[in-house]
Amino acid sequence: MIDRHALSHLLEHERELFQEKHPRSYELYTRAQNSLLGGVPMTWMMKWAGGFPVFMRDANGARVIDVDDISYIDFCLGDTGAMAGHSPRATADALARQGANGITTMLPTEDAIWVGNELTRRFGLDLWQFTLTATDANRFVIRIAREITQRPKILVMNYCYHGSVDETLIALHDGVARAREGNVGAPVDPTVTSKVVEFNDLTALERALEPRDVACVLLEPAMTNIGIVLPDENYHAALREFTRKTETLLVIDETHTFCAGEGGYTRAKGLQPDILTIGKAIAGGMAAGAFGVTRDVAEKMFARKDADYVDVGGIGGTLAGNALSIAAMRATLENVLTADAFAHMIPLAERWTRGVANVIEAFDLPWHVTQLGARAEYRFIPNPPRNGGQAAAAHDDLLEQYMHLYALNRGILLTPFHNMALMSPATTKSDVDYHTLVFGESVSQLHQA
Ligand SMILES: Cc1ncc(COP(=O)(O)O)c(C=O)c1O
Repeated sequence: MIDRHALSHLLEHERELFQEKHPRSYELYTRAQNSLLGGVPMTWMMKWAGGFPVFMRDANGARVIDVDDISYIDFCLGDTGAMAGHSPRATADALARQGANGITTMLPTEDAIWVGNELTRRFGLDLWQFTLTATDANRFVIRIAREITQRPKILVMNYCYHGSVDETLIALHDGVARAREGNVGAPVDPTVTSKVVEFNDLTALERALEPRDVACVLLEPAMTNIGIVLPDENYHAALREFTRKTETLLVIDETHTFCAGEGGYTRAKGLQPDILTIGKAIAGGMAAGAFGVTRDVAEKMFARKDADYVDVGGIGGTLAGNALSIAAMRATLENVLTADAFAHMIPLAERWTRGVANVIEAFDLPWHVTQLGARAEYRFIPNPPRNGGQAAAAHDDLLEQYMHLYALNRGILLTPFHNMALMSPATTKSDVDYHTLVFGESVSQLHQA
């Protein structure tokens, strides 16, 4: 049992230490209040545990250096946007080359064909489109699914996250579907557009699909945004069977689960989605997203003559598919996030997991750690949750803040949303072992308190 009073005290001490160590970041943060909402360029950056974010000076490989000259081992990696490592050479070179030779023209480049072929080789889907973000990819495929099925609803998993997509911001509250807590200015009650079930709950899934009013199921093949939640052994086979039986499209969002290998979880487990979405890391941190569809879906899209795919029909974006993003995607896929890179990253995540598990065992903590490809995460409950509801219930904000800030004060960045660590091609064994050491120390402090 953790003494909450002692925990608050430890956290307070870490906050003081943080403030002391980051005078320049604090100064910039204070100055930023005059021109930036919340003193940050995007309100999400207020999430860091110290009360204000460190301002970044340089980021290279698995390292970030802040304006106070402190160097960090980065396991956050821009919440997956920088899974390729920061400014990988091949991507940076391609950006410089293309940046000097046309950034956006509304004309295709030959690189796009290479990227389309490569995405097909990796993920299996036949035909591709590019967006600027994973959010946009998800937004567009929901429209496509509605259009071609002529069904009104989509189905998502409780506590999923697929970006700022209106239809997905729904959750179960004591078993009843409602807008997700904190949903800012929802355009309509999300129960009008969406259904929500718990991950791994096949009975609820079957029941929800049975009326045949669901255009698509949109899910991460393993949840990563409420901590990692892995699918049961038979889950994906049954999901595919139910979706086929009810003629519901299956959309798999690989934005985070791309960490499972060069073709993501889809390739690793032989999944067969009708549509696949991805973003974040595929262009090495440059803004880019993509969605792939089967030939069958493509035929159905273009069979609907009244659907406007070339102008103001609701799919598209002026900068989508721009030459710069595409060049970055090609460079990253060709040279950085390769099969060899994953062969380096995944064993590092295993090492990270083992290190954390050893500490948990040594201190006999009722915690556990889960790995998903190059990603791993510890949680403050003894057994892995089977769904988003269970995972959300295990959240312990105070403890999480303490663990994050303890690590940050000792030169380690963890993803601020939960206790997640991601490996990049530039991450090393000694980075991982340093985390194990610091994790052990933070736990030891808790133990003594
Ligand atoms: C699974 C998944 N899909 C989509 C998104 C949205 O990505 P972006 O914010 O880059 O559009 C996220 C972001 O965290 C995500 O985790």
